[in-house]
Amino acid sequence: MPSDIDLRAILDLARWAPSGDNTQPWRFELAGQGHVVVHGFDTREHCVYDLDGHASELSLGALLETMAIAASAQGASMQATRRADAPVGRPVFDVRFAPDAQVRPDALIASIDKRSVQRRPMATRRLTVQEKQALEAAAAPHCRVVWREDFSQRLESARLLSTFAKVRLTMPEAYPTHRDIIEWDARFSIDRVPDQALGVDRMTAKMMRFVLGSWERVRFFNRWLAGTVAPRIQMDLIPGLACAAHFALVAKQEPVTIDDYVAAGRTVQRFWLTVTQLGLNLQPAVTPLIFARYLRERRAFTAQPGVSAEATRAVKRMGELLGASTLQATVFMGRVGAGPAPASRSLRLPLQRLEVQGNNPTQPAAPSLAREPTRVG
Ligand SMILES: Cc1cc2nc3c(=O)[nH]c(=O)nc-3n(C[C@H](O)[C@H](O)[C@H](O)COP(=O)(O)O)c2cc1C
Repeated sequence: MPSDIDLRAILDLARWAPSGDNTQPWRFELAGQGHVVVHGFDTREHCVYDLDGHASELSLGALLETMAIAASAQGASMQATRRADAPVGRPVFDVRFAPDAQVRPDALIASIDKRSVQRRPMATRRLTVQEKQALEAAAAPHCRVVWREDFSQRLESARLLSTFAKVRLTMPEAYPTHRDIIEWDARFSIDRVPDQALGVDRMTAKMMRFVLGSWERVRFFNRWLAGTVAPRIQMDLIPGLACAAHFALVAKQEPVTIDDYVAAGRTVQRFWLTVTQLGLNLQPAVTPLIFARYLRERRAFTAQPGVSAEATRAVKRMGELLGASTLQATVFMGRVGAGPAPASRSLRLPLQRLEVQGNNPTQPAAPSLAREPTRVG
């Protein structure tokens, strides 16, 4: 019977799904027996990284996959249907659960609330054959995994990530995002990313907090005091080398529609939960893919010509390393490795704050209900 399914238990676990900058671009409506309506939103209007809302759509896919895994604990199967008439930027999904004798508890359930982002250095021991096989199986059938593991490959990836970080930190269009998404002096944050999870030392965090106080300060520090150097060494170069491998999840073809991105998000979450299940760590590095698409589609992301030229060079190099068609079909990238789990992490809004009433227009699934969500690279 659908009434036997505890929907709140499913949602309470599912809210641990990852989202860019912990935006949690979803609200839940309990719509009846075995029926949840997920009201999604994206942040394309104010976040330069949420190009066409696709980053938010990946997150929504991760959420749906997590709901399906959570439902398996109750022996229930899940069917999600996207409403075709929902406005652009506000996707809506009807998600229905039903008892299913075929469904066994998914082995990934225990990893749902342990999965997190490790932005600090990881161990450099290589992944074992078994670990790689488990991760490749988790990405299949929708994606294959491209690994970059050798020292020289990791160094090249680290340098590229550092270049992209310079791009992000020197473009005024990204400044409001960087200013808003960090919770300072915090080990945990329910709706942002705590500064202690960023991977920088205390002094650098203090400097970043001061500098991010205004765009004028950012510009002054960048121009006269090499303001991006310390953060890039600590957040990109060192961690980029200190890991087992960089990976790219490559779909069969370039994702185009919202459904492609949602499907990709489901695969990303299975891959990431498998990383956790294996006792490994992961950090995404998704902004290079976003810059690559801006450039491929000849869309401007910054008014600063120098910044644009730097990004163009880095994207070109990435295309040479991966192959242009592989880069185009890549849905997610990052680094993985062994080592301790992060001591600081993002938490989540409590379930009550994520629940909305169906036809109540004063409770839309709107970003303004929480903070203004934004995204960092
Ligand atoms: C689509 C997507 C893109 C992301 N991009 C990045 C990224 O480029 N760099 C990064 O450090 N974390 C990135 N993250 C991780 C989020 O910041 C993180 O999932 C969120 O803050 C919640 O924290 P948690 O995963 O530790 O629970 C991304 C997550 C998603 C789902």
